[in-house]
Amino acid sequence: MLEQDVTVSPEQNPLKNLEEWEAFVLTRYPEPDKLADPAKNKEAYRDHDNTTRDTVREFYRLNHSQQTYAYVLEKEKQHTGLNRMMMTPWQAIEYLNQLVDDSDPDTDLPQLDHLLQTAEAIRADGHPDWFVLVGLIHDLGKILCLFDEPQWAVVGDTFPVGCRYSDKIVYHEFFAANPDMQNPEYQTECGVYHEGAGLATVHMSWGHDEYMYHVVKDYLPEPALYMIRYHSFYPAHHEGQYQNLMNDHDRAMFRWVEAFSPYDLYSKNATPPNVNELKPYYEALLAKYLPPMLRF
Ligand SMILES: [Fe+2]
Ligand SMILES: [Fe+2]
Repeated sequence: MLEQDVTVSPEQNPLKNLEEWEAFVLTRYPEPDKLADPAKNKEAYRDHDNTTRDTVREFYRLNHSQQTYAYVLEKEKQHTGLNRMMMTPWQAIEYLNQLVDDSDPDTDLPQLDHLLQTAEAIRADGHPDWFVLVGLIHDLGKILCLFDEPQWAVVGDTFPVGCRYSDKIVYHEFFAANPDMQNPEYQTECGVYHEGAGLATVHMSWGHDEYMYHVVKDYLPEPALYMIRYHSFYPAHHEGQYQNLMNDHDRAMFRWVEAFSPYDLYSKNATPPNVNELKPYYEALLAKYLPPMLRF
C-alpha cells in the first residue's frame, strides 16, 4: 500500500469529518416516518448546532466555487486510470476506516458501520445480492480523502458541470464565485451537452460516487453502477432536476438510484453491526462479483 501523504490545508477541509456532510443531508431529507414524531427524529439523528452549520456552509462554498468543468476533467484524468494502488475489496473497506471520526465516542469504525448497516438493511428487505453489495461498497470512493483530496472533492451533493447550475442545488448562491459562471457556453440549460444527451456523456462534479463507479464499472450489473455513480446526485433523485440531460434509459435506471437512497440515508442506527459475524457473508459476496484484487 502507498503511505499516506495528506497535505490538504485545514482551510480546504472545514468539516470535522465526512459524516458531518451526510448528517446535514439528513436534515434536508428527513425520514418520512420520523417527521410525524419530532422527538423520535431528534433521538435518531444528531441535532446540529450552529457551529456545524458554519462548517457545512463553508464546505459548500469551497465545493461550489471550485468544481469547474476544467477541474472535473483534470480529476477524471488523474484518478480514473486507477494506477495508485491495488487492494482486495475487504482491504479497501479497512483502508477507508483510517478515516476515523475522533469526535464520535460511539464507534471506532464509522465508515464500516455505515456500509454494513446500509447493506444489512437492503438484505433484510430481500433485494438481489448485487443490490446488497452496492450497500457495502457505495462509499468506498471516499478513500480519495486518503489520496490527498480535499473534502469538497470527495463528498457533497453532485451536479453536472459545463451547464447551468440548477437553483435547487443547496447553497446555490455560492456558484456566483465559480469561474464557469463567466463562460456563457457553460451557462445555458444544456451547456456543452445537448437535450436528452444521456448522463453517460455528462461530466459530474468530482467526488466519491464518480470515482467508485470507475473502480467497479467492469464487474457489476448496470442498475448497481447507476446507484453507485449517482447516489449523491440529490438535485436529480430528490429534486427532479436535470431531466433535460437524461434519456429514457437514464430515467428507467434512476428508479434504482431512488430505491437505494433511503437505505443510504436512513439505515443508521445506534447498534454497531457485528463485524466478525457478518464478515464471512460479505467476503463471499465481494468474491462473487469483484476480482480478488481491485485497482484504485
Ligand atoms: Fe456516499
Ligand atoms: Fe453512504
